Amino acid sequence: MKALVLIGGFGTRLRPITLTVPKQLIPLAGKPMLYHVLDLLPADVDEVVLATGYKADLIDAYVREHPLRWPVRTVPEAEPLGTGGGMKNAGSGMSDPFYLLNSDVIASVELAKVADAHAARGGVGVMTLAEVDDPRPYGVAALGENDRITGFVEKPEPERAPSRWINAGLAVYAREVLDAIPGGRPVSFEREVVPGLLERGLYGYRLTGYWDDAGTPERLLRSQRLLFEDGRAGRSRLPAGAFGTGPVAAMAGASAEGASFGPHVTLGPGVRVEAGAHVENSILMEGTHVEREATVVGSILGPHTRVRAGHRVAGQVLGERAEA
Ligand code: GDD
Ligand code: MG
Repeated sequence: MKALVLIGGFGTRLRPITLTVPKQLIPLAGKPMLYHVLDLLPADVDEVVLATGYKADLIDAYVREHPLRWPVRTVPEAEPLGTGGGMKNAGSGMSDPFYLLNSDVIASVELAKVADAHAARGGVGVMTLAEVDDPRPYGVAALGENDRITGFVEKPEPERAPSRWINAGLAVYAREVLDAIPGGRPVSFEREVVPGLLERGLYGYRLTGYWDDAGTPERLLRSQRLLFEDGRAGRSRLPAGAFGTGPVAAMAGASAEGASFGPHVTLGPGVRVEAGAHVENSILMEGTHVEREATVVGSILGPHTRVRAGHRVAGQVLGERAEA
């Protein structure tokens, strides 16, 4: 089987960081969001096709420098085509069936089992579903007998959500689904295509472990916490000479001698945290510099940010080269 990965969104809810970096390259628990999603793919996948758009060149360069374990092909869009348009544009040569992954979700799921469920049930596909408290920012499924999806509403109005089971952004589809997408224009797969698939047999696969969409600052930090708790950061220790609780995922060349850490921190490549500074529940992207006695809590700091000595940054998202 092949996998088609949607990576073309603008990441508007993570601005200003996403003005210079696509959200899929923001590291959480020590590696980029995209690589956590790809970790869910079975080892025997034949090819991974990345449907890129916004900042496609940066994704390309990163994937070249940090090779994946499957053959990879990127298919960029000249203009954003939406989720369905991106599938159509990148979908020629797809296997039947194929995996479809959003690139901004984290989950604990064995995707091979989702493929097995599709093989057992037939129909046009199996969509994994996560149960959430507030389904309104997602695509929401109504479920019938044997978890057949009987209704699907993308981002429903308040009170109109048919359940709390939402499209988790990880699915297995028959190739004929690609034929159902109109070509040559932007298409929302969830709004324009999924409702029409229901009569052909689309099934839900309820996730039981954790799931989150990391597309907002709050959810990004929550996702990072879930990944740490799941051990996805490997054996993450404190950086040399640092103290506190951690866990901290320190990427290549990060240093933090004499700094203290609370839980759930990623230090991107080359990040420098000076002695006497304190960091917790945060993501510090490549080249960021936290000076002595500064504090960073619940924040996402874009590449090459500087936090001045003694300053406190809490609950903030700072863009590339910002100073606080
Ligand atoms: N190639 C391409 N082109 N990819 C795109 C485009 C585009 O124009 N627009 C968005 N994407 C990618 C994003 O990068 C992301 O990986 C995925 O498609 C979904 O887009 P989001 O913008 O993150 O959508 P959402 O989070 O509001 O909703 C989607 O995900 C939810 C689960 O996280 C929908 O699929 C919902 O139904 C679902 O519940
Ligand atoms: Mg999303």
